[in-house]
Amino acid sequence: MMNPSPLQAVEHFYDFHPISADQIFQAVAARQIAREDITQAVLSAHDQDHYGGTDAVDRLLGLAAITADDHVLDVCAGMGGPARYIAWKTGCRVTGLDLTASRVAGAQALTEAARLAAQVDFVHGNALAMPFAPAQFFVSSAKKPMPTSPTKASSSPSAPGC
Ligand SMILES: C[S@@+](CC[C@H](N)C(=O)[O-])C[C@H]1O[C@@H](n2cnc3c(N)ncnc32)[C@H](O)[C@@H]1O
Repeated sequence: MMNPSPLQAVEHFYDFHPISADQIFQAVAARQIAREDITQAVLSAHDQDHYGGTDAVDRLLGLAAITADDHVLDVCAGMGGPARYIAWKTGCRVTGLDLTASRVAGAQALTEAARLAAQVDFVHGNALAMPFAPAQFFVSSAKKPMPTSPTKASSSPSAPGC
């Protein structure tokens, strides 16, 4: 890639990252778990691409007091691990936003496999130019965002942050 922009460099990095939806499906298959038996409980051992795993997400959930009536925005959602986990634990709706198209496709495939697509959707877009209406979400979260993503203070223009 000749002189990629910072955003192009991020996409390129994640397009070739060793952790991917395919790699997660392979890890699940290696546990002798069939595709039709995949649940978020199964995926959670593999799909949390941040420090602290689901314990960290549980701490955020406690702080934000999310209920089934809420709609959460997960910024820099990656393969959607935290987005699915939040929806699965609380019954709420979650929208994941990510810059990398291959990450969005992987997140959608994993979410369909976990049968959470009715609750969790993914949007391909840049957190620096949020493609959402003001006040669309109850709360927004960002776990291990990259340097091209906004600061905590500016990451939730349409909702109170957590
Ligand atoms: C380490 S992954 C985090 C994955 C996820 N939050 C998790 O905890 O499993 C960082 C993600 O941030 C995304 N990203 C980086 N800059 C972004 C931006 N400006 N807008 C949206 N997504 C961005 C990347 O595409 C990548 O998928």
